[in-house]
Amino acid sequence: MLRALSARLPPELVALTRSHLAISRPLSTSAAPASTAPAAQPGKTFYATTPIFYVNADPHIGHLHSTLLADVYSRHARLRDPQRGAIMCTGTDEHGLKIQRVAEAKGTSPKELCDSVSERFRELARAANIDHQVFIRTTESRHRRAVEHVWRELEKRGHIYKSSYAGWYAVSDEAYYPESQVAEVIDEKSGEKYMASTETGTRVEWMEEENYKFRLSAFREPLLEWLMSKPHPVQPPSRTGALVSSLTHPSSTDLNDLSISRPSARLSWGIPVPDDPQHTIYVWIDALVNYLTAAGYPWKGGEAFERGQVWPPDLQVVGKDIIRFHALYLPAVLLALDLPLPKHLLTHGHWTMDKFKMSKSRGNVANPFEAMKLWGVDAMRMYLMRVGGNSASDADYSATEIERFYRKDLAGQMGNLLNRVTTKKLLKKLPSPELLWTPPTQVEKEDETLIKLLEELPATFDRHLASFEVHRAIAAVFDALAESNRHVQLLSPWLATASPSSVHRALFFGSETLRLAGTLLQPFMPDKSAQLLDMLGVDPARRTWRDCEVGKGGERVPRPGKAHLWPAVAAPEAVVAP
Ligand code: ME8
Ligand code: MG
Repeated sequence: MLRALSARLPPELVALTRSHLAISRPLSTSAAPASTAPAAQPGKTFYATTPIFYVNADPHIGHLHSTLLADVYSRHARLRDPQRGAIMCTGTDEHGLKIQRVAEAKGTSPKELCDSVSERFRELARAANIDHQVFIRTTESRHRRAVEHVWRELEKRGHIYKSSYAGWYAVSDEAYYPESQVAEVIDEKSGEKYMASTETGTRVEWMEEENYKFRLSAFREPLLEWLMSKPHPVQPPSRTGALVSSLTHPSSTDLNDLSISRPSARLSWGIPVPDDPQHTIYVWIDALVNYLTAAGYPWKGGEAFERGQVWPPDLQVVGKDIIRFHALYLPAVLLALDLPLPKHLLTHGHWTMDKFKMSKSRGNVANPFEAMKLWGVDAMRMYLMRVGGNSASDADYSATEIERFYRKDLAGQMGNLLNRVTTKKLLKKLPSPELLWTPPTQVEKEDETLIKLLEELPATFDRHLASFEVHRAIAAVFDALAESNRHVQLLSPWLATASPSSVHRALFFGSETLRLAGTLLQPFMPDKSAQLLDMLGVDPARRTWRDCEVGKGGERVPRPGKAHLWPAVAAPEAVVAP
């Protein structure tokens, strides 16, 4: 299969696909825990994408959030099936009027601005331990080739025509807004009146010019059909409802033909329209093609698409601010090109700060580098996914909440249980060392709740991830940890009066809870999971999905080590902004 893949993929993808296969261990013969996840298309590499971010300002927590979601899902795909390649792609969106103007204002060239800010996004991915295989920049020549190819194909197939456009444009969103979606607003400070989008509040400018247009309106029926198909491609499902009702509203303008170029005199920082340099390709068309570029498009230098390669994305993660570009424009272009549509579009809510959307333009942002320095990378990964993992709603970012989560859940539940089951004094009370990984022959009343939770945990965890309820997947693990702590407390193995059976059951189930937690959470907290499993003494070859069964963890000698898994962090009053 690899050889067949290599013919179509860029070299970096081939190498990475291979390295992921190389680290995989042979399939064990034991039955895998039950799962409700949809079966993977055989031979199809798992492909996850994030939006490519504008380089107008440094990354913030919101960008980290999207990137983390894609990372967690591709790591989970590898955990579920190590034989299957998984590719995750992120990058930067570098063309357009917005970048052109920010560069002008800073007195720098657009290219210099892009180089320096793009590097910050790359640094963020590195700092957050994001396992991405592709980092794409829209100023790269491979991308330009893909965009030009898309344009020519659309033109050849009759989906593009020239016409004139008169209407409102928001540079900050790089989006066109219909008359019905703009209104006059008055700047509170200066008293200045201007027109703004009622949806995003961003200033719009009047434009009258000649544009190329894409026949978006022609794709109304197939788009609606796709949006309403089961399982819903747009997640969470509540957003499908909102989208469909907006599209089917009689006065809806959402699917009017789309302007896809700007006169070069206005917009010079972009990819010129092939064979018509008087026009520059609209930045969103340019940007959306990045997902194809990263998958190696145009395949074999042309359109020919074969099954089994990277395209289409299994998961595209985007914020709810850019749904229409991903749920309407990209699918329409793909339909026009006869290319398969993405399997899932996960549209997540926004991180807010004092209830306002965190945004570069507003300036109310939390610095992810600082936060990770203070709390540690994995604590932040866990916090963002636990608190922001409900994609249907927004989440308010708060240092007090991070502190609480760290102290109560990470240290208080996971750390505490680990201390309990790795204490030498307690381990010595075990009638024999192998009882630590040997299930009791008799189940007692006190064990029942915990056993049930543990037996169901892998499938529950997987089901929540499959339904994109990331917060619930993590909560299920913490429910098991909390129950295991209760169980240990109940059996109180440290008491002189504790029976050998109580010591055995407390330590066995405690150790198993942590082993399952550590194994399942590998995609969320890769380093802490490794540390946790090392401290438990779990064999590195037994940390796969198939090992997630109670009593199947194998021999182990705990190595508690000196450092705590979740050491105490600076007191909350010392915690400022991040
Ligand atoms: O829109 N909370 O780039 P962008 C959560 N270049 N996520 C947030 C967020 C917040 N407060 N703020 C931003 C663009 N994000 C285009 C995308 S894709 C082909 C082109 C995340 O820099 C979220 O994923 O404005 C959001 O959709 C994205 O960053 C917007 O980033
Ligand atoms: Mg934005």
